Amino acid sequence: MKSKAIRIYEFGGPDVLTWEEVDVPDPGEGEVQIRHTAIGLNFIDTYHRTGLYPVDLPTGLGSEATGIVEAVGPGVTGVAVGDRVVYAGTPANSYSEIRNIAAWLLVPVPDDMPDEQAAAVLLKGLTAWYLLRRSYRVNKGDAILLYAAAGGVGSLTSQWAKHLGATVIGVVSTDEKVELARANGCEHIVMSDDADIPGTVKGLTGGEGVAAVYDSVGRDTFFASLDSLRPHGTMVTFGNSSGPVDPFAPAELAKRGSLYVTRPILFHFVNTREKLLHACDELFDVVHSGAVSISIGQQYALKDAAKAHRDLEARKTTGSTILLP
Ligand SMILES: NC(=O)c1ccc[n+]([C@@H]2O[C@H](COP(=O)([O-])OP(=O)(O)OC[C@H]3O[C@@H](n4cnc5c(N)ncnc54)[C@H](OP(=O)(O)O)[C@@H]3O)[C@@H](O)[C@H]2O)c1
Repeated sequence: MKSKAIRIYEFGGPDVLTWEEVDVPDPGEGEVQIRHTAIGLNFIDTYHRTGLYPVDLPTGLGSEATGIVEAVGPGVTGVAVGDRVVYAGTPANSYSEIRNIAAWLLVPVPDDMPDEQAAAVLLKGLTAWYLLRRSYRVNKGDAILLYAAAGGVGSLTSQWAKHLGATVIGVVSTDEKVELARANGCEHIVMSDDADIPGTVKGLTGGEGVAAVYDSVGRDTFFASLDSLRPHGTMVTFGNSSGPVDPFAPAELAKRGSLYVTRPILFHFVNTREKLLHACDELFDVVHSGAVSISIGQQYALKDAAKAHRDLEARKTTGSTILLP
């Protein structure tokens, strides 16, 4: 079987993406072959591209897509040819028309959910789920600080946090994103160029600070985030959009009030079929109830993935982004 796909042969900027024809073998033991209909763009794709998260070269890119099962390999049960499925997982290769992937990763798409919406919500929505339900379990009445509140993960996380009864303080960079973050349920907005984010956050929380910070920016915001927490607060540092966090001394946590820090990765929270389906049930429930709506801010042809990477890294995108094969 032949497929068009994005490949990279070296780490670097968006220019390293190539669009070419590749051979797809028959699916192996425990695998299915899937024809993609919509592909989710995620910031992690840029980390694979730059080598920040090392992968063996040459490689495909992309960790999320919706599609139709075209063939099943030996030993696969519970998935049939023609099924409409969505997945979030590795090895990275969702920037392709057709691929093989482990069958256990496939999640049936709810009947009333369009393919693009499924690819827009799975990886980012499962991330919102574990951030709010596992990394720090948000309580009704908690104030939380959330960076990139108009972005892919941020749009879903802010709506879900509000639904759980949290007061969400969203950080964004532009006036357009202020409006989006408010529509996502952020009660307060802090601009990302605020020179004293901790002071602003303390002012919004009666001097106390927030119960948890969800920080996807990384290097540039790490200490401002620690300084925004209340005593015993939890710092969830879960991304590197400005670069990885530099090493720091544990004493920094003591002097700010016996803080907790966690550096989680989605795949550790959904690493069995049972955990994955449980998390998807909770995610699809909040989507069906209307508590969380899925916003696709922009779509690109898959062959133009380099342009999508440029826009994502230049902070030009909002909500989720879809690549169309
Ligand atoms: N650990 C995990 O399990 C996990 C899973 C999924 C995603 N993530 C992380 O979550 C974050 C969001 O992912 P996403 O795919 O939904 O992307 P996104 O939020 O749609 O896009 C990134 C946003 O980050 C903000 N940002 C702040 N500083 C930035 C900088 N120096 N360069 C670029 N962007 C910057 C921008 O929003 P403003 O312009 O409003 O500041 C930008 O729009 C990423 O850091 C990603 O790595 C982690």
